[in-house]
Amino acid sequence: MPNSTDGSRKPIAWFGPHLTNRELDGLRDVLERQYINDGPLAREFERKVAAFVGTRYAVAVSSGTAAIALSLMAAGIGAGDEVLVPDLTFIATANAVRLAGASVKLVDIEPVRFGVDPDAVEAAIGPRTRALVTVDVNGRGADYARLEPICRKAGIAIVCDAAEALGSRHGGRMLGSPGLCGCFSFSANKTITAGQGGMIVTDNAGMHDRLRELKDQGRRTGGSGGDDDHPVLGFNFKFTDLQAAVALPQFDEIEQRLATARRRDQAYADRLANQPGLSLPPQSEPGEVRQWTDLLVEDRAAVAAALDADKIGHRAFWHPLHRQAPYRADDRQFPNSIDISRRGMWLASRLDLTEADFDRIGAVIVSALRR
Ligand SMILES: Cc1ncc(COP(=O)(O)O)c(C=O)c1O
Repeated sequence: MPNSTDGSRKPIAWFGPHLTNRELDGLRDVLERQYINDGPLAREFERKVAAFVGTRYAVAVSSGTAAIALSLMAAGIGAGDEVLVPDLTFIATANAVRLAGASVKLVDIEPVRFGVDPDAVEAAIGPRTRALVTVDVNGRGADYARLEPICRKAGIAIVCDAAEALGSRHGGRMLGSPGLCGCFSFSANKTITAGQGGMIVTDNAGMHDRLRELKDQGRRTGGSGGDDDHPVLGFNFKFTDLQAAVALPQFDEIEQRLATARRRDQAYADRLANQPGLSLPPQSEPGEVRQWTDLLVEDRAAVAAALDADKIGHRAFWHPLHRQAPYRADDRQFPNSIDISRRGMWLASRLDLTEADFDRIGAVIVSALRR
């Protein structure tokens, strides 16, 4: 086997789209039909996602960020309102709240599964709080059993940021389905990608109608672009049939993709269990599927350097949001978020990794930890 630092081994990218060879057929059909805007294929994708998640409605939009922002707007949340957001998430969760015009109040996470801490949520609810955006971090469901009664009692809505949790089940429910609505992302590092794109799922008919208006200039059904009526305010956050043509063939094989992700986590666990200096966060429920394999490592820099030297992709967890310029706040409120952010990393999680790749990556990590 070549030396791990001689540069001769093939690079392994952290993640990448996993296309099926059928996207081109779908794209050709869309191009031949000459209707490349938000049309019948986007509706088909919505119907399939709603059926899969088990909600009455699904509305396709331009991104996961737009999905969260439009959900808040559709719930009538905006200027003057406050929305609770966990401190450890991709910054899009908080930015979406700002896009809706509301202000963000950051809340610490719980340290085992990385969801928002229900006790901290309870303590943070104030007179202007109108919603909580839960984040199902890396496919692990937030603690809905505790969060739902807290939010119900306080009269605030739950919007689920399930961007990383399509197909993952928690507490017997598909993630995305709790609360008022759930938001998915089809950006490039997700199980199903359209390059960009998002989807909102909900059982609430009023939310569904308002979301259709908000994504299409105040029209509930598509118009001519000419002398249409625009009875309410809306914008342009549409998804297109070109994107749906790319997403649909992937979505048709989502179960295989979820099974591959489970096997990937197990393959890493087999190679990395019981290594000093490293812990594999728990996978507490059999129905949960992680978007990427995650690890907590004391000396993350050493592991990262060894992976870099072997051209193996990886990513560090996000910085806590309260340390980002738009959301600056005092460290003392966020001990768990700071600790997990410091130690967390995602390993290469492409869906086409082989047993030989897992052997190689596992060996690089184990040897970095022993050094
Ligand atoms: C937790 C989380 N929230 C929100 C988003 C935003 O989705 P998008 O990039 O589609 O806007 C992402 C992914 O990118 C995410 O991982």
